[in-house]
Amino acid sequence: MQYNVVVIGSGPGGYVAAIRSAQLGFKTAIIEKYDTLGGTCLNVGCIPSKALLDSTEHFHNAKEHFAEHGIDIEAPKVNLEQMIKRKGGVVKANVDGIAFLMKKNKIDVHTGVGSFVDKNTIKITAKDGKETSITTDKVIIATGSKPTPLPFAPFDKKRIISSTEALELKEVPKHLIVIGGGVIGMELGSVYARIGSKVTIVEFLDSVIPTMDGTMGKELQKATKKLGFDFYLGHKVTAVENKGPEVVVKAESKDGKSIELKGDYCLVSIGRRPYTEGLGLDKVGIETVKGQIVVDAHLKTKVENIYAIGDVVRGAMLAHKAEEEGVYVAEQLAGQKPHVNYLLIPGVVYTWPEVSSVGYTEEQLKSQGRAYKTGSFPYKALGRARASMDTDGLVKVLADKETDEILGVHIIGARAADMIAAAVTAMEFRASAEDVARMSHAHPTYMEAVKEACLAATANRPIHM
Ligand code: FAD
Ligand code: NAI
Repeated sequence: MQYNVVVIGSGPGGYVAAIRSAQLGFKTAIIEKYDTLGGTCLNVGCIPSKALLDSTEHFHNAKEHFAEHGIDIEAPKVNLEQMIKRKGGVVKANVDGIAFLMKKNKIDVHTGVGSFVDKNTIKITAKDGKETSITTDKVIIATGSKPTPLPFAPFDKKRIISSTEALELKEVPKHLIVIGGGVIGMELGSVYARIGSKVTIVEFLDSVIPTMDGTMGKELQKATKKLGFDFYLGHKVTAVENKGPEVVVKAESKDGKSIELKGDYCLVSIGRRPYTEGLGLDKVGIETVKGQIVVDAHLKTKVENIYAIGDVVRGAMLAHKAEEEGVYVAEQLAGQKPHVNYLLIPGVVYTWPEVSSVGYTEEQLKSQGRAYKTGSFPYKALGRARASMDTDGLVKVLADKETDEILGVHIIGARAADMIAAAVTAMEFRASAEDVARMSHAHPTYMEAVKEACLAATANRPIHM
């Protein structure tokens, strides 16, 4: 079979690249080694984790907050099997949706491991070992990433687990030790803390979610402490051992003090690494650095007509970043002049309160030596937040000291995940803090905190504080 475009990998990068390519009139195929489409995000990432986050947040609310709302119920019980089953249904609906979209866009789906024979020929090896080949003018590599193991304690998938196993546990851990206080650690830690696990985070750096604005890490730590999280920040893990039903984790603080933690599960969430195994990159001479496929500013590899996108290349490992890159490459192939504004790719942590962020952090502005001003507004001063008893949180706006242009927006609080889109829009149009402050925001909404933080950044003139 001869194609214009072949996409390898069907995650958010790959399937979106395939759809956009087909929309633009290219004869397109997608190759996926697993039986279901959708990649990490739909099968073992974004979607199942959010399904469990939602179920456990309902449980937490029923247990902790219903009575105050005037809803008297029997003490709720956790049915983990049902939670995991519902999550499975959500995943199935989503992956089936991608199969439908492939059909609708007349994209051929090939199931098996794709590997280069040469730059225009891809071999597909099915599970039963059967090999077929297809030829193509252009290739888009979107093979994603895998969890990074600790070098001295590989995943045994029973007690020393990655996010993939943490989404499928058969029992609620008594004590879940989480190595890495990044996005996965805080999200999946929250899932289990809400349904009764003791959760201990062991983090190498001095803050949780350390790549986000420092205020967000501090506030998230406070909020999750209320859920019962314990923290060992600034600790380097030295050993993890599976001793039957017990896992023993040893770590050392910066001043050399040793700790030993005993739990029943240890979630290792210290980042993900690009995945290129079995692709046969050497057959075509594509380079990798630290596992990432090297691409130029246009996502081209050094081999003509081969592109790479998503987690397998540099940049944030986020589904929506992969999607933007998928569209970018397809449109470029069609001779268009697309653009991805990497500064405005938002980041979200789906804990409760949620955390979201776009643009520069305060730490980045400081290190750039840029003159900036800050405006903050706490959720507890919002009528909407009081009405729903979600008063933990704040909005922080960073703006240029001279021009007032918004440089960064950081939100922790209820619905922060959805609110950040407004900040992206404002920043895409290069709004000043005063521009946003002068727009009407519906009352009572959480978004009023963004307006108030912009008022605070403009000339320290918030109305409700
Ligand atoms: P992937 O989704 O990893 O897809 C790559 C696909 O390629 C896979 O299906 C793989 O099987 C296939 N493949 C690999 N090699 C071959 C080959 N040789 N032949 C054929 N197929 C191959 N991001 C967010 O933006 N929001 C979130 O809420 C979020 N939550 C997450 C939660 C968890 C627990 C995890 C682990 C990740 C989460 N992410 C989230 C990150 C997100 O999943 C990734 O950034 C995203 O999936 C990257 O998309 P991709 O298309 O680059 O690769
Ligand atoms: P991460 O990069 O977010 O966090 C890893 C954390 O582990 C960091 O805080 C790091 O300092 C720490 N760490 C690294 N080595 C360590 C060690 N040896 N001991 C102790 N701590 C150590 O990576 P994470 O959480 O594994 O997630 C992987 C990727 O998946 C992220 O890049 C993220 O973008 C993506 N993801 C996105 C989500 C979202 O958008 N909501 C949800 C989950 C994952």
